[in-house]
Amino acid sequence: MKKATVVSPANIAFIKYWGRRNDKLILPQNSSFSMNLDKCLTTTTVEFGDFDKDEVLVKYFNQTYQNLEGMELDRVLCIVNRIRQKYDHNFKVKIYSENNFPAGAGIASSASAFSALTKALYEALEIPLTEKELTIETRLSGSGSACRSIPDGFVVWEKGKGDDSLSSYAYSFAPVDHWDLADVLVIVDTSRKLVGSFEGHQRAENEYQTARLVNIKKRLKQVQEAVRQKDLEKLGQAVEEDAISLHAVAMTSTPPIYYLNGRTFDVISSLFTLRKKGLLGYFTMDAGANVHIICERADAAKLTHKLKQVPGVLDVVCNRVGKGARAVNNHLF
Ligand code: DP6
Repeated sequence: MKKATVVSPANIAFIKYWGRRNDKLILPQNSSFSMNLDKCLTTTTVEFGDFDKDEVLVKYFNQTYQNLEGMELDRVLCIVNRIRQKYDHNFKVKIYSENNFPAGAGIASSASAFSALTKALYEALEIPLTEKELTIETRLSGSGSACRSIPDGFVVWEKGKGDDSLSSYAYSFAPVDHWDLADVLVIVDTSRKLVGSFEGHQRAENEYQTARLVNIKKRLKQVQEAVRQKDLEKLGQAVEEDAISLHAVAMTSTPPIYYLNGRTFDVISSLFTLRKKGLLGYFTMDAGANVHIICERADAAKLTHKLKQVPGVLDVVCNRVGKGARAVNNHLF
């Protein structure tokens, strides 16, 4: 059978996905918006065949290949089994996957990993899907935000209607070359998060989440207009508001989740100082302490240089807008 290899990017959300209305179908409570990252990539090769057993090997950044085990293996095989059942076949699978960026760096590695895996599985089975169908299949992999890594550039994930799985999909809002933005990622913590997003989504049920959902439509509209008009100030205002709103929900969840720490706020306050001096960058944080700074690419080097000097900063990684998941010919085995 065909061997397929896919390269897929991580993405950073401007309007974030937080809270699900249907856990099984991974249907979100709100639509979200993100930008693909050009340098943070997962490559995955898949082959089905008459092998003795399923085999899943992963190579994390700067490490050697190892067999995936435990819950992580179960999660991958759950996706494979769903496809095996759907298309009624019993072939064993061989999967090799590697990341070109550290998994603990505060960049959503599961988005690149699960989008690469889902696309590679379908490519290997030679089942043609439209991009829309592929984003739905990727969403169902369990890492909802992964569906935003399939289309190119700036991407919207529609929340959809009710329990209709087919109504919640992702599409490209603007291509890679629409706006030369950068994500300057300021790393202040490389430890694994104590509470995973999966659990975080489940705890997102309180009055702050209600308020977040009331305001989010307006914010999404503001982000879309700002991207269309390439208005960084307008974009930045909505991006910062959305990040703070997510963390307000997390910190008021039961039990509470504190993803941010003192170093996060040291970086933010340095950013405010730089902004006063005319260097425009806007912060956002996912489910972790590291700070993503969205800026024009022309200002990225200066911001990187300045923020590297903030005490507590371990590293700064700069990404531009990237393409979505794509099939390539250089297989990993
Ligand atoms: C805070 O359930 O998609 O990054 O835990 O990486 O599988 P994983 O993520 P997912 O939740 C992502 C939550 C978020 C916000 C976002 O990217 O929209």
